[in-house]
Amino acid sequence: MSPVRNTKLSIIGAGSVGSSLAYAALIRNSAREVVLYDLNAAKAEAEVLDLAHGTPFIGSSRITGGADIELVADSDVVVITAGAKQEPGQTRLDLAATNARILGKLMPRLVELAPNAVFILVTNPCDVLTVVADQLVDLPAGRIFSSGTVLDSARLRWLLAEAADVAPQSVHAIIVGEHGDSEFPLWSDATIGQTPLREWTDRAGTRLFPREKLESLTSDVVHAAYKIIEGKGATNYAIGLSGARIVEAVLHNERAILPVSSVLHGYRGINGVALSVPSIVGAGGVLRTLDVPMDDVEIDLLHRSAEALQSSLAHVM
Ligand code: LAC
Repeated sequence: MSPVRNTKLSIIGAGSVGSSLAYAALIRNSAREVVLYDLNAAKAEAEVLDLAHGTPFIGSSRITGGADIELVADSDVVVITAGAKQEPGQTRLDLAATNARILGKLMPRLVELAPNAVFILVTNPCDVLTVVADQLVDLPAGRIFSSGTVLDSARLRWLLAEAADVAPQSVHAIIVGEHGDSEFPLWSDATIGQTPLREWTDRAGTRLFPREKLESLTSDVVHAAYKIIEGKGATNYAIGLSGARIVEAVLHNERAILPVSSVLHGYRGINGVALSVPSIVGAGGVLRTLDVPMDDVEIDLLHRSAEALQSSLAHVM
């Protein structure tokens, strides 16, 4: 997919997530220009150099970057990955106070340099930081949101695809709520191809996804990041790809339906909290949140997620 016109993506933070997102965006040609910024000049310049050396093997995207924040000027999309990362045993919400402080130093300057950009929070806790960012600057609704549960939904789709022996692209299932411990799947809408998930069988006609299997898969998704962090210290590849996918929906004005996280105003009675629900994503960011069918259990879980986030917000606002 070639990038549309002369689009500019800036990534704030050249850690493993920011660098992986830059790598994914280059390979997918998400934007014509990719800028990788970090306070640490040596780190930013080394990542940029290492990425640039591979550009003879990709399409027309180009990479620049460094420690000069002015490089962000006139970006179309700014993805924020800077901040403390989850250590083994930590929850994402444990990072709220530290990363809210970092965001407070960054956000006003980023908006000054790129007043027309869409801002995507990846730094965790991304839902809480979306509200913090939204209150730090005055941008039109939808222009600030987070990657939310796009990654968690991809994890679920992969797990279901592996169990059903089909392509992950043919699995339609999403996780909603907090990008964190209180997230949950909307099973009632899930399908494999056109088959409702609960009716999917193997060749012998055995239903593959009874309740206990779905509960086990949900736990695998909720605990996926913890498991990866225990093993390699951080997650980076799949969040990098998830971020590039969201960037493309904005830059190509796709109006794609993705479970990103934006500040809700009256969604199922939820106000002033950002959490993931199916949303239409296009040139202006989140264009619309969708009131998808939810049963009473799912509505209760959504409110529990909102309460968990509200409680964390209260400590950082
Ligand atoms: C994860 C991080 C991005 O879920 O929160 O891998």
